[in-house]
Amino acid sequence: MREKVTAAAVRARKGGPRLTMVTAYDVVMAAIADRAGADMILVGDSVADNVLGFPDTLAATLEIMIHHTAAVARAQPRALIVGDMPWLSYHVSLEESVRNAGRLIREGRAEAVKLEGGRKRLPVIEALLAAEIPVMGHLGLTPQSVHVMGGYRVQGRRLEAARALVEEARALAAAGVFALVLEGVPAVVARAITELVPVPTIGIGAGPHCDGQVLVFHDVLGWHLNRRKARFVRQYAQLGEAAVVALQSFFADVRSGAFPDESESYRMEEDEERAFVDLLNELEGG
Ligand code: KIV
Repeated sequence: MREKVTAAAVRARKGGPRLTMVTAYDVVMAAIADRAGADMILVGDSVADNVLGFPDTLAATLEIMIHHTAAVARAQPRALIVGDMPWLSYHVSLEESVRNAGRLIREGRAEAVKLEGGRKRLPVIEALLAAEIPVMGHLGLTPQSVHVMGGYRVQGRRLEAARALVEEARALAAAGVFALVLEGVPAVVARAITELVPVPTIGIGAGPHCDGQVLVFHDVLGWHLNRRKARFVRQYAQLGEAAVVALQSFFADVRSGAFPDESESYRMEEDEERAFVDLLNELEGG
């Protein structure tokens, strides 16, 4: 039996072995991710676009995040459950931020929370840590800032922006985050941050030098149809296409009468069935 992964255990993995994280949004995804050996399961606010069909993550509310985090927690994974703080759940006041993170922990059974942003998030991070809530940081292409960034653009491509990212990463690490997601940044910048900060970096679209990698469940497994694949995604299966083929076979068997067969049907007790057939014959006779 492998030991439960904790935020402290993740923090201690700086320098290796490399950490694995994948998103999951329900009990089956969580069980699959856990069986496959994930170190961390992220209940991402990407539930909004990947599961609920919204155009971006801004639609995720605290209630949605609690609902899906609780579903993931019911799988009782060995992996650390990280609950994403949705947009506006940590932007209004420190008091509200702590209460909201607390709900993700208490009602959603998350074991850590993740929030996006750099230095301006330091007071929130400190308040959450003071409330005994482990915090994962998230820098670079932060999807909750889509309107400020002017789209989903790689961040830190120019010298000043790269320097700023390094400083932000150092500040978050000094504040006490146990790990740091780096999303959509040049590999050379992610490498520098990984070398400079004492906590594990988890990359997504951030090159190969991070202490770990994260991808969205649907992207790794092709659990969608006709989705344009981002450059940083490696797709290991085409489950969406496979599901269409499986359902087509089911529908064909229904139409032809091949489903269900005897092995998929229930029977009466033998004596009772004989008596029932006699009864039917009697009824038909008369
Ligand atoms: O919500 C999410 O899926 C994320 C990952 C992309 C890091 O934040």
